[in-house]
Amino acid sequence: MMKIAIAGTNGLAQFIGYYLSQATPHNFVFLTRTANPGLKERDWQVLVVDYEDPASLAYTLKGIDVVISTICDSAQYALVEAAAAAQVHHFIPSGFSGPEQSAPRSIGQGYWQGLIALLQHHAATSSMRYTLFTCGVLYERFGPGGTNTLQISTLNNRHSAVGEEGNLLIDMRLGKATIPVTPSHEQLAVCMTSARDVARYVVAALQTYEDMTVWPEEFRFCTQRLTMSELVTICTRVRANTKSLSPGTPIVPTFTTREALLHNHASAIQANNTNQALSLAQHIAIAEAHPALNFPVTSINLPASILPYVYGSGPEPTTSELFEVWLARAWSTPQPTPAPSSANTSGKQSGKSSRSGSGQLSKEATPLGENPRKLS
Ligand SMILES: NC(=O)c1ccc[n+]([C@@H]2O[C@H](COP(=O)([O-])OP(=O)(O)OC[C@H]3O[C@@H](n4cnc5c(N)ncnc54)[C@H](OP(=O)(O)O)[C@@H]3O)[C@@H](O)[C@H]2O)c1
Repeated sequence: MMKIAIAGTNGLAQFIGYYLSQATPHNFVFLTRTANPGLKERDWQVLVVDYEDPASLAYTLKGIDVVISTICDSAQYALVEAAAAAQVHHFIPSGFSGPEQSAPRSIGQGYWQGLIALLQHHAATSSMRYTLFTCGVLYERFGPGGTNTLQISTLNNRHSAVGEEGNLLIDMRLGKATIPVTPSHEQLAVCMTSARDVARYVVAALQTYEDMTVWPEEFRFCTQRLTMSELVTICTRVRANTKSLSPGTPIVPTFTTREALLHNHASAIQANNTNQALSLAQHIAIAEAHPALNFPVTSINLPASILPYVYGSGPEPTTSELFEVWLARAWSTPQPTPAPSSANTSGKQSGKSSRSGSGQLSKEATPLGENPRKLS
């Protein structure tokens, strides 16, 4: 039995906790900056930590085998240092193909490169190893309210554009799509996984490879890998069958090149429009076929046998939802009215709607529904 610390309390962290509690005997504790009554009500252990106090952070981590981080910012660097000092065996960094990892190479990945360098340093000089989980784009980016509905990207302003509905490729509500194309019109693709399945895969890996000394530095997996045209077709089909989404109106794609996106990104940076720049960076990453978002099936190195389903690995999933099924279910419930937004990919400062859920969920709210068993 392992002792696991999950840093952060967003939806992804809670899904990981949920599947650890359902599928393993492992003990786990959430590390958070503030008391979180919503989690405590579930009888989950929650420890308040101060990421700016290295000694107390290391003390808290004494006896922990594995740290699973869902936090970003400099706090994560502090967490790595404290985990190494506390002789934690394995560190799973935040990432999960998120904004930092998928920032295009042409724009730079300072934060991420620094984090990997720090993890590599500790892997070479201490007993702490690390493994990155790469899962492509979260399904929730295309659902009502975006990832904000799972409290993902709601707390860190740097990520707020990523958490909003309709900010990546397709805006289901407005029926619009911004589709990157290559000069040769070769099909771009994107790997996709729901947040719930990301958590399930992390837990499946922990269940299977108890000897974490044999873990690779990266596990790659996704539930589906879709080309841009497959994505638009699926979204159009779901929209056509969803009452709240003007059924019958097709999604109208606007095609854009990497160069146009780079130009708009430079303008957004100059205008100090961080949200728009981040949103554009994500599109550039797709246009550049970034390996965290678009990886061939052959590079998946998490054995199919331990996963509920891996794209291309066999029959249709029984426990993971294919994107179309997930999307139809997500949009089948009544949706809130849109509110004004701050981010778009057109290069203009305004004019796009957002349906951020950040105002609708309290910090203590959980993404698991009233009864977590609904997820099993
Ligand atoms: N693949 C994708 O499409 C995709 C999209 C979005 C996110 N992601 C990934 O999902 C994970 C979570 O993303 P996120 O956007 O929710 O991260 P986030 O906004 O940084 O929040 C994650 C957690 O970190 C803590 N936190 C927030 N700001 C902090 C700060 N300044 N200092 C210390 N702790 C802080 C919060 O926990 P407490 O308040 O409890 O301390 C929060 O629950 C990341 O790994 C991200 O890369 C992936």
